[in-house]
Amino acid sequence: MTQPPSRFGIWAQVYGASGSFFHPQDPPDASWERNKRLILEAEALGFESTLVAQHVFNPRDDERDQLETWTASTALAVVTSRIEIIAAIKPYLFHPVVLAKMASQIEEISQGRFAINLVNAWFKPEFERAGIAFADHDDRYAYGREWIEIFRRLFGGHRVNFSGQHFKIDDYQIRPVGRYRERPAIYAGGESEQAQALAADTADVWFINGQPPDDVRRLIAAVAGRPRRGPPIRFALSAFVVARETNAEAEEELRYLFSLAQQDAPLRQAMAGRTDPKAVMFKTFARNPAFGSNGGTAAGLVGSYDTVAARIGHFADLGIETFMLQFQPFEAEMRRFAQEVRPRVDRLKQAAA
Ligand SMILES: Cc1cc2nc3c(=O)[nH]c(=O)nc-3n(C[C@H](O)[C@H](O)[C@H](O)COP(=O)(O)O)c2cc1C
Repeated sequence: MTQPPSRFGIWAQVYGASGSFFHPQDPPDASWERNKRLILEAEALGFESTLVAQHVFNPRDDERDQLETWTASTALAVVTSRIEIIAAIKPYLFHPVVLAKMASQIEEISQGRFAINLVNAWFKPEFERAGIAFADHDDRYAYGREWIEIFRRLFGGHRVNFSGQHFKIDDYQIRPVGRYRERPAIYAGGESEQAQALAADTADVWFINGQPPDDVRRLIAAVAGRPRRGPPIRFALSAFVVARETNAEAEEELRYLFSLAQQDAPLRQAMAGRTDPKAVMFKTFARNPAFGSNGGTAAGLVGSYDTVAARIGHFADLGIETFMLQFQPFEAEMRRFAQEVRPRVDRLKQAAA
């Protein structure tokens, strides 16, 4: 089977920085203006996608700024012209018919470039401080399952009637739908058994946290092997990139980043006390110490330009189609990736064809 071309995306800087809040060349900036500039530049550099994560307030420190996902994604849909915009959604924060309506509007504004990333939450205070009960891990996935089913059916263009444990929908429909394609793409993140089952049943793309290739291979086999209706599920990987001329220089830079991260340790420890202990993703992070969020450097995209390109090629061979990347300092390292690593990935692919 011919492999689809690799796609590259960047994490929007919703927290203001990827990695350390104490990088001297990359002080946290979660503003709309910064994110707009960043994503327009990513688009101009040829990145295919951007992921706008969702948190109502900054999980590491609620005194710090946090970009709002859905309003920012709408504005991005206006100012960009080619890049895919993926907005994360935690089902408890929006009723599915309201969110489906918003998604249909962004799909129209973006002319068919919109996607959602369904994530079932781990950060308790975001809910509890708002008086929204933080349900048990498996109950959150059961809620998310009903939620995404309603979302999908509304995009089928039908009048939806639904009676579940959590939602009762009576004769609801949204317009417009299907103007550019059947519906916005559905990504899903989360590593637990429930997350894998939900992704196989309802998502187009499963997002995997950065981790070593053997673990990624195992996870892909587990999800690809599940029963499923429709076309095969596709896979995306989150990763933090540290690329330099030589492996030694990249390792040196990673040591520097880890040394900066010591200053973030108190914030991270406080955050850890507010997470759901049943969230499987944090068990993965504990096994693979790394720099950056969502697995970060544990994916191993650290090394010379050739090393990083070869590792991306290896992940592509395992079935990863989209690489959602983090850098620090973000803008400068993103440019370096576009100039040095991406052409090498393309050359490797041509040589293998
Ligand atoms: C690529 C990716 C992006 C994610 N983005 C978010 C996000 O924006 N907000 C959030 O609360 N959780 C986010 N998550 C975390 C998932 O929601 C997380 O895996 C889940 O809450 C814990 O469930 P688990 O036990 O299934 O791992 C993301 C996960 C992945 C893999």
